[in-house]
Amino acid sequence: MASHKYWFETWFNTHYYDALYQHRDENEAAQFIDRLITYLQPEQAATILDVACGKGRHAKYLADKGFTVTGIDLSYKNIREAMSYENEKISFFQHDMQNIFRINYFDCIFNFFTSFGYFVNKKDNLQSIRSFAGGLKPGGFLVIDFFNVNHVLDHLVEDESKTIDAIQFNITKSFEDGFIVKKIEIAEGDKREIFYEKVRAITKQEFENYFDACNLKVKQIFGDYKLNTFNSASSERLILIAQK
Ligand SMILES: C[S@@+](CC[C@H](N)C(=O)[O-])C[C@H]1O[C@@H](n2cnc3c(N)ncnc32)[C@H](O)[C@@H]1O
Repeated sequence: MASHKYWFETWFNTHYYDALYQHRDENEAAQFIDRLITYLQPEQAATILDVACGKGRHAKYLADKGFTVTGIDLSYKNIREAMSYENEKISFFQHDMQNIFRINYFDCIFNFFTSFGYFVNKKDNLQSIRSFAGGLKPGGFLVIDFFNVNHVLDHLVEDESKTIDAIQFNITKSFEDGFIVKKIEIAEGDKREIFYEKVRAITKQEFENYFDACNLKVKQIFGDYKLNTFNSASSERLILIAQK
């Protein structure tokens, strides 16, 4: 019997995803991490969890800076690739963010580049935040890097077409039942495929409610990777820093 898969169980394993987001690279990750570390000031002995780490671009840079880093991701393919970075400072595990990974263990838990809000049921988002909170030591920091819903909704009409590595992408965005839906039509040679990204439009207020429910206190909210202050109309990102 064919088993149903959610979009996020397949899309991130494709070479189309890698091509479309190839500009989201190690360089971007390093610059963002440098700024975040300057802000958070973790001790050199800090333990850090990168939730939904993908192929480990942030985790590797953090380990290179001397922190003890663990990366987890649902995708076995991503984790297998990230494992090539493993050494005494860094390890990777296939793991679903809904489930707590280690209890009261991490100084920082990071969730970067819109790796949240994929679940169909809202309660699964809360469950994920609960797991993040449980994984933090008292006083530890949670950082969630999400999109700014207002900004995305204001730019929904801008359809996009581009060719990357001989792959033609036609992208349209819509707002459906509380989700930002990105339809990605692909043409590569004779092949035609359609993928979707469906991410719940979680507002700043909703994140604050999740944090409240999990006894996390919001410390700061940034609006982009340069860590400028969040502006609900103009910021592209919603980068929330909360403390246990
Ligand atoms: C947009 S990518 C970002 C990856 C990485 N954070 C980066 O910045 O390159 C989202 C990642 O979330 C992972 N993911 C999706 N659902 C997950 C879940 N329930 N638990 C853990 N990881 C998940 C995907 O496999 C994918 O690698």
